[in-house]
Amino acid sequence: MTKPPLLATRAVSKHFGGLKAVDEVDLELAQGEILGVIGPNGAGKTTLFSLIAGSIQPTSGEVLMRGHEVSGRPAYRLVRAGVVRTHQLVRPFPNLTVAENVTVGAIHGAWRDEASPRARAAEVLEFVGLAERANELPGTLTLAGRKRLELARALAIVPLVLMLDEVIAGVNPVEAMKLAALIRRIRDERGVSIVMIEHVMPAVMSLSDRIAVLDHGKKIAEGKPAEVAANPLVVEAYLGKGAAEEGATPA
Ligand SMILES: Nc1ncnc2c1ncn2[C@@H]1O[C@H](COP(=O)(O)OP(=O)(O)OP(=O)(O)O)[C@@H](O)[C@H]1O
Ligand SMILES: [Mg+2]
Repeated sequence: MTKPPLLATRAVSKHFGGLKAVDEVDLELAQGEILGVIGPNGAGKTTLFSLIAGSIQPTSGEVLMRGHEVSGRPAYRLVRAGVVRTHQLVRPFPNLTVAENVTVGAIHGAWRDEASPRARAAEVLEFVGLAERANELPGTLTLAGRKRLELARALAIVPLVLMLDEVIAGVNPVEAMKLAALIRRIRDERGVSIVMIEHVMPAVMSLSDRIAVLDHGKKIAEGKPAEVAANPLVVEAYLGKGAAEEGATPA
């Protein structure tokens, strides 16, 4: 018998009134894999994350962890099972220091790790390169710094699956490269499996083992980065009908 994937969705859907924000999407994430999720604005990427994380419930379909259904469970139980997400809009507690913000994450993960929340927070701050900013307020950080803080908060929970919602988008190209390298280290050095939504194509193309493409709630393509980038359906989703014939690629 083959081992079930670490995380999977089976025909998962979310309707908001008449809008099929996520429409029968099948996804699979293997242990140790980095899966990229791309698609135009409004494609349903964040909604899919919310369905997996348990912050909203599917209209139909299911979410499975190692073959066991987890859909319908509240978000805190998914976190406890090791599924941790970051948010597209980073909102640290503004009146807590960088270290205190991460300690809040560490407290949520305390059941899986012997280290004290404070010690774990210090360790992950070192890992993401924010140790020197530990006693400052998040408001003093640049956007790239706040993204690192968001990563540190998630890592302090000691995830098995980390779901990153546009961690790289919006920062300058140099910072984008550094964040991409950090994401790769999270997988390589910590063994965390990663699903990442990302609009920054060079980053998602180079980091991902596989990429799934959403458009209007549906998964329209899936495969290795080069295959997906060459897929006419994907080019069309990004650039409109006719673009594929002109040889364009998603930028
Ligand atoms: N709570 C909600 N109620 C109603 N409609 C919603 C809700 N959340 C999302 N939507 C709609 O569902 C669709 C998918 O939104 P979603 O945020 O998942 O897209 P996305 O792919 O993450 O886009 P972006 O790249 O801009 O972040 C959009 O049309 C959005 O307006
Ligand atoms: Mg989104």
